[in-house]
Amino acid sequence: MEVYVTGVGGARPLVPVAPDALEARAARAMSPEAAAYIIGGAGSEATMRANRAAFERHQFVPRVLRDVSQRDLSVTLLGRKHRAPVLLAPVGVLEMVHSEADLAVARAAAAEGIGYVFSNQASVPMEKCAAVMGDTPRWFQLYWSSDDDFVRSLVSRAEKSGCEAIVVTLDTTLLGWRPRDLDLAYLPFLRGLGLAQYLSDPVFRAKIPAKPPQTAVRPRGLGVVDTLLSLRRKGKTFDLPVGRMRAAVAHFTATYSRPDLNWSDIARLRAMTKLPILLKGIRHADDAKLAKQHGADGIVVSNHGGRQVDGETATLDALPGVVAAAGKMPVLFDSGIRSGSDVAKALALGATAVLVGRPYVYGLAIAGEAGVREVIRNIVAEFDLTLALSGLTKMSELNGKCLAG
Ligand code: FNR
Repeated sequence: MEVYVTGVGGARPLVPVAPDALEARAARAMSPEAAAYIIGGAGSEATMRANRAAFERHQFVPRVLRDVSQRDLSVTLLGRKHRAPVLLAPVGVLEMVHSEADLAVARAAAAEGIGYVFSNQASVPMEKCAAVMGDTPRWFQLYWSSDDDFVRSLVSRAEKSGCEAIVVTLDTTLLGWRPRDLDLAYLPFLRGLGLAQYLSDPVFRAKIPAKPPQTAVRPRGLGVVDTLLSLRRKGKTFDLPVGRMRAAVAHFTATYSRPDLNWSDIARLRAMTKLPILLKGIRHADDAKLAKQHGADGIVVSNHGGRQVDGETATLDALPGVVAAAGKMPVLFDSGIRSGSDVAKALALGATAVLVGRPYVYGLAIAGEAGVREVIRNIVAEFDLTLALSGLTKMSELNGKCLAG
C-alpha cells in the first residue's frame, strides 16, 4: 500500500515498475559493453528465455474471504530472521554500471533491511560494504580459486566482516560462452574490473609476480593498460602502479579458474570455517543429495541467470525435484525472478527464499542507491500483495496447493 500511496499518489518513480521497461531503461543508461555483459546470457540465450517462460506456466488459484489484514513476510534462514524471503544475489563488476557499485547496493540493502550476498568479483572490498550495513544480514560468495591460501584468506575476511554464510558458486568453474561479450571482445576482468576482493587481499597481493608472465591473456581491442589508465583518470584508482596492475590481472587469470573442483573439496572448506556453507548452482536432484551428504547447510538452485549453459532446464522447473531431494536443508532460488509474483511462485514450489539478480543492477544503473531501493521495494510490495490477494498471510501457507495443477 505504501508504494501505491507514495508512488501513484505522489512522486513519479525513479525506475520503471514493469520488469521489461526496467531492463530497457537500464540498457539505455549503460555503455554497450556493460549492457552486453549484464543483460546477456550464454549461447542463443535459450536458458535465459526458459527461466522466464517457466514462471508463465504456473498460475495461482487465489482463495477469498480469509482475513488477510495482518501479514508476516519474514522467514528464518540459517537461524536468522529475514524481513522478507528476498536477498540480493552476488553480481560482479558493478563499477561497469555505477561508480558507487557494490557500496550503493550495500547501503540500499541495509536501508530496506534486505540481505546482500557480496560477490567474489565485487568492485568494492567486502569490508567497506559490511561497514555500511549495520546489522543487516550479509553473506559472502566465493569463487574457489586454484590458490587455497587465497580462499582461506577470503573466508577469514568474510568472517571478520560479519558475513553469516559462505556461498560457493559451482556453476562457473569456467566462464560461459557469451556471444554478446565475444562480439565486443570484452571481458571486464581482463581490464582490471571486478577485482576489488583480490586487490584488497594481502595473500593475493603478496603473490602478484613482479612482471606479467609472457603467456598472460592479451585482450583484443583496447588494451588493458589503456583501460587502467582511463580508470585512473576518472579517479577510480587502485593503489598499484599500472605495470603491476597488469601483472595482477595476469595472476588473477592464472588462479581464477578451478575446473578440477570436486565434492571432496567441500570438506576442505568445512575445515576452514564454522560459518554455514551454501552451494550455489545446484540444478540436479542427485547433486542436492550429494550436497547434503557432504555437509552443506543449504543450496541455491541457480543457473547463473542463464549465463553459463545454453539450452538447460529453467531453474523453476528444476526446483521441485531439488527441494524433494534436499530434505530439511534450506533451498534458495534464483534465475528469472523479476517480480513479487515470481517470488511467490518460487516459494510455492518449495524455495525458502529467493535471490534477485539483474533487476537490482538495473535500478543501480538508472538511479544508483535510490534505484536499487526502489527495485527492492517494488518486488517486496508486489510479493506482499500477491500473498494477500491469494488469501495468504504467512510464508508457511505458501505451498503447491496455492498453484493450479
Ligand atoms: C551474476 N551472477 C553471479 N553469481 C555469482 O555467484 N558471482 C558473481 O560474481 C556473479 N556475477 C554476475 C554478474 C552478472 C552481470 C549477472 C547478471 C549475474 C549470477 C547471479 O548471482 C544470479 O545467479 C543471477 O543473476 C540470477 O539470474 P537473474 O535473476 O539475474 O536472471
